[in-house]
Amino acid sequence: MEVVIRPNAYAAADLVARVIARELRTNPRLVLGLATGNTMEAVYARLVQMHREEGLDFSKCRTFNLDEYIGLSSNHANSYRHYMNHHLFLQVNIDLQNTHLPDGMVADLPAECANYERLIAEGGGIDLQLLGIGQNGHLGFNEPLSAFRSRTRVKVLSPVTRAQNAPLFPRPDLMPHRAITMGVGTILDCRRCILLATGEEKAGIVARAVEGPVTSMISATALQMHADCTMILDEMAGSQLKESAYYHWVFENQPEWEPFRTPAPSPEINGFKAKDLPVENPVSTF
Ligand code: GLP
Repeated sequence: MEVVIRPNAYAAADLVARVIARELRTNPRLVLGLATGNTMEAVYARLVQMHREEGLDFSKCRTFNLDEYIGLSSNHANSYRHYMNHHLFLQVNIDLQNTHLPDGMVADLPAECANYERLIAEGGGIDLQLLGIGQNGHLGFNEPLSAFRSRTRVKVLSPVTRAQNAPLFPRPDLMPHRAITMGVGTILDCRRCILLATGEEKAGIVARAVEGPVTSMISATALQMHADCTMILDEMAGSQLKESAYYHWVFENQPEWEPFRTPAPSPEINGFKAKDLPVENPVSTF
């Protein structure tokens, strides 16, 4: 694992977007694993900006999202399909047929989960998986005690996750109690993982995920066993790490980071969102 600490949330998200862009330019058929949540909005805004200003091409790329709520249709404002369409898919030249999320509306949920795993395998596996982290250390919706060998399946959402995400719903009780999520094992099979965490409220769980003991009570600790995982943080999210001087030293001396050490173009824009961008092709459905 590597830990990269950037001065602010914008610079951290910008670094994630630039790593994704480089992988996409190297391999236009990249299979990207995607995540949702507030933290990811700045990454998608930068990718949209790179598409518009630099011609970043998504036409051959395929995507698999980590998770989806059960019982929310794709056009429900709180569904992750809606989130992805809104923040990324409808703003770049990706073929929607190449974008995949589990379907939380199907009658046969186990069949849908097995089908999702099959689709990922048929796609050749995930090259680069983007991850956020929940307050309880979940990846996707892998709640505490998720087995490290787990595959895509249905999970009951924990009280901590409900407290974190319910405010995003018009009424807290409208938040579903369950979701389909890639398993920890599915995530560990991805060739490269990049976790982005920003803000002080993530500092405690990030420190436990990076420097704490590996435990299925905190799914993100499984990433300590991944062969190619990078945690990209802002100063606040990294503020409880004990070894941050060492992580900075590695970043400054690792040749692979050379093209990424230059400062982000707009270093002080914290809370950068897609809505801040000039709208070229407004999405009429939202
Ligand atoms: C949800 C998603 C997770 C994500 C988390 C973080 O729970 N299922 O994949 O990591 O949100 O959200 P935020 O970025 O809003 O803190």
